[in-house]
Amino acid sequence: MTIPERISKSDPFRTTPELHALLYEWYFTYDTANSLARVVTAEARSVACIGTPTIASTIADRTERTLLVDADPGVFQRFPTLASIGNVSIAELAQSVPLAASSDAAVLDPPWYVNDILRWLSFATKYIRPGGSLYFVLFPELTRPSARSERQTILAHASRLGKVEHIESALTYSTPLFELEALAAVGCPDPGDWRAADLVIITDVAPHKAWQPPVTTHLGDKGWSTHVLGEQVVKLKTSPNGDPGDILSPVRGAVDNVLTSVSERDARRQEVDLWTSRNRVARVGQQKVVEGWLERLASSPYEAVAPVISREDRPAFDMLQRVLAGAK
Ligand SMILES: C[S@@+](CC[C@H](N)C(=O)[O-])C[C@H]1O[C@@H](n2cnc3c(N)ncnc32)[C@H](O)[C@@H]1O
Repeated sequence: MTIPERISKSDPFRTTPELHALLYEWYFTYDTANSLARVVTAEARSVACIGTPTIASTIADRTERTLLVDADPGVFQRFPTLASIGNVSIAELAQSVPLAASSDAAVLDPPWYVNDILRWLSFATKYIRPGGSLYFVLFPELTRPSARSERQTILAHASRLGKVEHIESALTYSTPLFELEALAAVGCPDPGDWRAADLVIITDVAPHKAWQPPVTTHLGDKGWSTHVLGEQVVKLKTSPNGDPGDILSPVRGAVDNVLTSVSERDARRQEVDLWTSRNRVARVGQQKVVEGWLERLASSPYEAVAPVISREDRPAFDMLQRVLAGAK
């Protein structure tokens, strides 16, 4: 299969509400989504898209049945065509409604961690018919020091499910705003669409029933509430770890409140209780207070909310305003 490599800065996919790093929302470029959609629908008439909303929206009118499982309700705003396919489950993978088994194929793009990929593969087998095909993304070797052996583990599992084809660097991602913000903060303002990954195709899938999906800590945005302020998406931990004496405080080492890396290996991530789609972060000591402010700011501008904040709480509210400012 040939998938064109392109640096595209004007993808026609809508990315409002903004994509969020907590859900690993790296969308394919328009060209990649189209090429992958073409490859999948050449063989399959019914397709289960698992965490692949760009593919679901691209193939919606090309298949007899398309279904989508994704944790983010924002997909309906980004892809209005999804409303017409009906088979959409907005939920964490384990909580998703089994929309329909027996699709010819499933396309999945899990977070780039070995346990997540194996867990998602195990779920995906429930959506396809015996002998169907699985298409999934495999992170490149340079992702982290352990990536090479993790890839081997994943490919070994894949080969137990069926016949494996592995195409290197076949898929390109459109760089999301949260990553642009992280890179700009470390002096790399315009990386283009630099992120690529491999495509793995498993055909003649015969799910082995004894396979217990591995445990993972990446459960979508479970444990967080979501607040949409204009185009910006703000995630707030329901049980934050900040000092209860401070409504809001900075994450240590996050200069100007920017999380300069979205990597799980970055120790600062443990401290993050509030996280914006522009990669601004804060610790939260009083969740109810911050949640109340975010709810008000979702429907009223800062200038209308600020006057009703007590003098005592004002420094924390002003910090929230700085965290929410960000790019754009
Ligand atoms: C790496 S992105 C893949 C997007 C894909 N490249 C595309 O262009 O359509 C992961 C996707 O899975 C969804 N997601 C992340 N964690 C999830 C979970 N635990 N359960 C269900 N969906 C999840 C995200 O909302 C996001 O759309």
